[in-house]
Amino acid sequence: MFSKEVYQQRRNALKATIGEGIIILPGNEESGMNYKDNLYPFRQDSCFLYFTGIDRPDLCFIIDIDNDQEILFGDEATVEDIVWTGPQVAIADLAELSGIAFTRTKIEVESALRGGRTVHFLPPYRAEAAVKLSAWGLTGTPSVPLIKAIVAQRSIKTAVEITEIEKAVAISALMHEKAMEISVAGLSENYIAGQLQAVAIAGGGNLAFPVILTVNGQFLHNHASANVIQNGQMVLCDSGAENNMHYAGDLTRTFPVSGTFTPLQQDVYNIVLNAHQKAAAALKPGILFKDVHLLACEQLAIGLKDLGLMKGDPKEAVAAGAHALFFQCGLGHMMGLDVHDMENLGEEYVGYTEELKKSTQFGLKSLRLGRSLEAGFVLTIEPGLYFVPDLIDAWSAEKRHEDFINYAQVEQFKNFGGIRVEEDFLVTDSGSRLLGPPLAKTVEEIHAFLKR
Ligand code: GLY
Ligand code: MN
Repeated sequence: MFSKEVYQQRRNALKATIGEGIIILPGNEESGMNYKDNLYPFRQDSCFLYFTGIDRPDLCFIIDIDNDQEILFGDEATVEDIVWTGPQVAIADLAELSGIAFTRTKIEVESALRGGRTVHFLPPYRAEAAVKLSAWGLTGTPSVPLIKAIVAQRSIKTAVEITEIEKAVAISALMHEKAMEISVAGLSENYIAGQLQAVAIAGGGNLAFPVILTVNGQFLHNHASANVIQNGQMVLCDSGAENNMHYAGDLTRTFPVSGTFTPLQQDVYNIVLNAHQKAAAALKPGILFKDVHLLACEQLAIGLKDLGLMKGDPKEAVAAGAHALFFQCGLGHMMGLDVHDMENLGEEYVGYTEELKKSTQFGLKSLRLGRSLEAGFVLTIEPGLYFVPDLIDAWSAEKRHEDFINYAQVEQFKNFGGIRVEEDFLVTDSGSRLLGPPLAKTVEEIHAFLKR
């Protein structure tokens, strides 16, 4: 936990913005995998963590703004619970660590919630939370003022948060080094992914999201499988840890199983790396992330034209959406307590504004962040090139964007796979700063690392 002053300051800022009523932030509950007592690893709700720092299931936090009270409530562990779990810190002691003055029983709080006052709550993403809210009569729409206030606060990372994010990125970098160290022909993707999870857990936290480690990197979120990796293939590894404070890291590297990229793999890799570097160099306060995305797309289109896969004017090709045959997703996303930070609060609030709405064009519609950047934002830059046979066949059959795409050449790439390069950045007053330690990224650095 941070010091209690950090949480008090966050709550005071929230109260000042919301102004009246009750704010309710239910913490997460334990969740059974296949029966009630066989549990998934517990993950606290990120908003509950942000405002209380308390990493324990089955609690609920309330700010009664009208009566100027902050209340933590839940059931104390009974002696019978302790027989199974060992001693538990009392709820009043947890509250004290977070600077919360009051604890109450569920019954007292439930009567306040049913008292006809304005209650601000967030959109639930777990069924248990939805059921709980509904039992308290909170069945209306989530509070847009609360969503907006929390997004505004959580979007700007403070110095203590950046320290934690850098720790998470450092653990994530160790995961990638492990992947590059152990990957040899004959191992399964699952085996390698398991070794990465061990690094994340040994780092004090866990995975920030399920490991994406695959020789079929053309599929954007293809998780590890029983596939056995072979020389000549590339491994796309998109993985990250969250540290013991639950801040996330999210990195992607693509590397050759044999230790050496083929000349064609190298050419495609360098197109992605160039787009990555140009996008990273463009980061600064005031720029629309949508424009950084389009800049990266244009760089990809220029590279694909050089390779003979695209034709025509790259800017026009990108405006038409033709490049999305090869780059079907967004350039990046916010990152913090969630790897896609605050995504459950709604992309329209996190990544877009009243003035800037999300596009519906294929490719751009998957861009999670479009808005103007501010100092203190932490985000990923993750361009890629993905050769998806089904998509190529579908577009080719309807001759989609044939002014910009050389389908005869593209046909030769249906077995190529996919390449992505991803890093995490802090937007600073003057530009941006790469977060975390150096990790092999250029073709030469990757070759050198794989030779060790
Ligand atoms: N690293 C997974 C993602 O950004 O979607
Ligand atoms: Mn990512």
